[in-house]
Amino acid sequence: MMNIKMFIPRESTALSLGAHDVARAVSDYSTQHKTELNLIRNGSRGMFWLEPMVEVETSKGRFAYGPVDVSDVPSIMEDITTNLLSKHTQEHRLALGLTEELAYLKKQTRLTFARAGITDPLSLNDYLALDGFSGLHKALAATSQEIVSTVVDSGLRGRGGAAFPTGIKWQTVHDAPSDKKYIVCNADEGDSGTFADRLVMECDPFMLIEGMIIAGLAVGADEGYIYLRSEYPVADEILQEAIVIATKEGYLGNDICGSGRTFNLEVRLGAEAYICGEETSLLESMEGKRGVVRFKPPLPAIEGFFGKPTVVNNVLSLSAIPYILSQGGQAYQQYGANRSRGTLPFQLAGNVKQGGLIELPFGSTLQSLLDDFSGGTQSARPIRAIQVGGPLGAYLPTSKFDIPLDYEEFTNASAVLGHGGIVIFDDTVDMLEQARFSMEFCVDESCGKCTPCRIGSTRGVEVIDRIKYDDSRAENMILLSDLCETMINGSLCAMGSMTPIPVISAYKDFPEDFHLPSNNAVLEETNHG
Ligand SMILES: Cc1cc2nc3c(=O)[nH]c(=O)nc-3n(C[C@H](O)[C@H](O)[C@H](O)COP(=O)(O)O)c2cc1C
Ligand code: SF4
Repeated sequence: MMNIKMFIPRESTALSLGAHDVARAVSDYSTQHKTELNLIRNGSRGMFWLEPMVEVETSKGRFAYGPVDVSDVPSIMEDITTNLLSKHTQEHRLALGLTEELAYLKKQTRLTFARAGITDPLSLNDYLALDGFSGLHKALAATSQEIVSTVVDSGLRGRGGAAFPTGIKWQTVHDAPSDKKYIVCNADEGDSGTFADRLVMECDPFMLIEGMIIAGLAVGADEGYIYLRSEYPVADEILQEAIVIATKEGYLGNDICGSGRTFNLEVRLGAEAYICGEETSLLESMEGKRGVVRFKPPLPAIEGFFGKPTVVNNVLSLSAIPYILSQGGQAYQQYGANRSRGTLPFQLAGNVKQGGLIELPFGSTLQSLLDDFSGGTQSARPIRAIQVGGPLGAYLPTSKFDIPLDYEEFTNASAVLGHGGIVIFDDTVDMLEQARFSMEFCVDESCGKCTPCRIGSTRGVEVIDRIKYDDSRAENMILLSDLCETMINGSLCAMGSMTPIPVISAYKDFPEDFHLPSNNAVLEETNHG
């Protein structure tokens, strides 16, 4: 009897495109044709336009087919049995060749996503076979200060948006005297076009768990929470199961790997508010209150969850930790550019043919990323604008596609890298409408605590509407510019102070959509400012 080992993802994108049905059809086919099937439900490699991508193990490595529909299953199974497993050839129209040889994967540097799509996310054996928990073992053999210093050496900066050095944050919590401390993972992932956190949680949950345990050992916290957006039910299910497995196998609980150390972990579901991704309103929400931003200071590192010193870190920041502990801070810090060290998992989305996850060291450019990975727009029209860094990020025109992708270079260009989301727009985009959308987004998502954000965004929508309908356009442009300045300088948190970034970039870099003459006062001022 023929023996076949196959992989079909159980990750949300693949599932939304019919992966469960494909898996069922493959099983049915094997039963009917009396083949011995070992079907693994793996994570996704993050090449979304190929999902559901079906892989088959051979002596030469895994071969892939995609995107697979249920109706393709009989012909693919035939190709596998008659060509692939006997002759190492694939003749099917959906055959992609050896997965590891696919250019989209080969051109990446996958440190955080090294296991994604390769393993069964809930197989502890798979995780252990690919270096899993080796960082934890190193951490258990080190002092808490040694762990913190390793993270400082790595140069890791927070991947949630603000890019604050992770090691410094940990040092603050480490040094804070308290009988109780917490680790909180920010898994609210609200930025437009982003999905890297979700992929970690759905494809390699033990890595996040390991990162959180190490964080606990580093700062002296014995309790952790993953604040997960409720729109991620698959991630919730996988995380819950992974926590049960890790507890049963002694990685979580009151005696981590027989060390006598304690770390317990729980998932808390959010309630679909963008502002609950901001760390202080996240903490309010976790405490059972309305998600309203807190005044800072005190920082959460000093007074966080229920007033105790708390590390709040993004999923990607915590997921970089196992590699850093296992390979050393220097190994991580050798990648990157300027003070942006390591890799960033970029997420290509919007109007794009080959959307997906691309992990690269900091320092390449948007243009090279587009050339190497995007395949152009889905509409086959030219790209006109790209919004990088979520809804509070700048819209970049093609003339800025050669800015290196690192925190410093983007700040110098009045833009933000944020969580690495890259949303593509073709030449049919109306940038005035995009500016209006940015203000409207702030109207919807503002927590309401401070006036420049709560009222300013509403006025912003009105002013942009007046510009749109040519109601005193020149005067209203000046008003819009003043309003943006007020929001930047007067808002309590980055929601209000960053909303003007996409608005200003829209009228500055795409003035024709605002019907502005090039000698417009606002443009002249901003161009010289
Ligand atoms: C409006 C707003 C939304 C945010 N949303 C998120 C989010 O969804 N996920 C996240 O990790 N950080 C988000 N942040 C950043 C967090 O406040 C905080 O900086 C981050 O969780 C710290 O983790 P890091 O140092 O690992 O980046 C947001 C900030 C603001 C102002
Ligand atoms: S800027 Fe907006 S979201 Fe932030 S505290 Fe003020 S009202 Fe709330």
